[in-house]
Amino acid sequence: MTIDPNNVSIAPSLLSSDFSRLCEEIAKVDRGGADIIHLDIMDGHFVPNITFGPPVVAKLRSCTDLPFDAHLMIENPDQFIEPFIDAGVDMISVHLEAPGHLQRTLSLIRDKGAKAGVVLNPATSMEGLRYILDDLDFILIMSVNPGFGGQTFIPSTIQKLQDLSNMLYEAKKPIPIQLDGGVGPENVAEVTSAGARILVAGSAIFGNPPYEEVIRRMREAAVV
Ligand code: DX5
Ligand code: ZN
Repeated sequence: MTIDPNNVSIAPSLLSSDFSRLCEEIAKVDRGGADIIHLDIMDGHFVPNITFGPPVVAKLRSCTDLPFDAHLMIENPDQFIEPFIDAGVDMISVHLEAPGHLQRTLSLIRDKGAKAGVVLNPATSMEGLRYILDDLDFILIMSVNPGFGGQTFIPSTIQKLQDLSNMLYEAKKPIPIQLDGGVGPENVAEVTSAGARILVAGSAIFGNPPYEEVIRRMREAAVV
């Protein structure tokens, strides 16, 4: 897959979907115009919640041709890179705050043929990214503290997006910025103006059917 930094992509997060009908929910957002399926992987340790792992993802692979994007909120990401890519995941992001050696994890992801991303929690400084820009295919900025869907967007994220966009511009590294948490039609104009290009949205999409309608509103509101 290719990630176009000049376009806005909509990535519904399954976390707010009906877990008893995952395949149907994926097919519905696919028909509704989604670009990427965002999978929140939680282990009950790195974040206070548990979701699903590689066997579930492997079963869901046949529900759509859209890229799968695994956001790993787990303590030992290295152990799960290969199983998730074997399950059909196309993009994997790991938290800067997770234990381990980030460059090693990112090359593991790339060596297996997937796109590699790093995630920053709201309180984490972007300075650490400066030294790993060549190892990254995308950067995920959290606009809520990870673990749950339906939380309120943290306003200071806008400044962080602008600072990061400037840093990437100055470094001449047009790495796409993904944004996750409290994103919906009402703040798409502001976050895209600040540089966000891959918009993850859980409750804003799955909580407001019909999905095609809310996805269309998000796309129309984007400022690129
Ligand atoms: C939170 C997850 C998000 C979550 C977003 O830990 O990373 O992907 O699903 O949910 P909303 O869009 O409802 O804030
Ligand atoms: Zn997420």
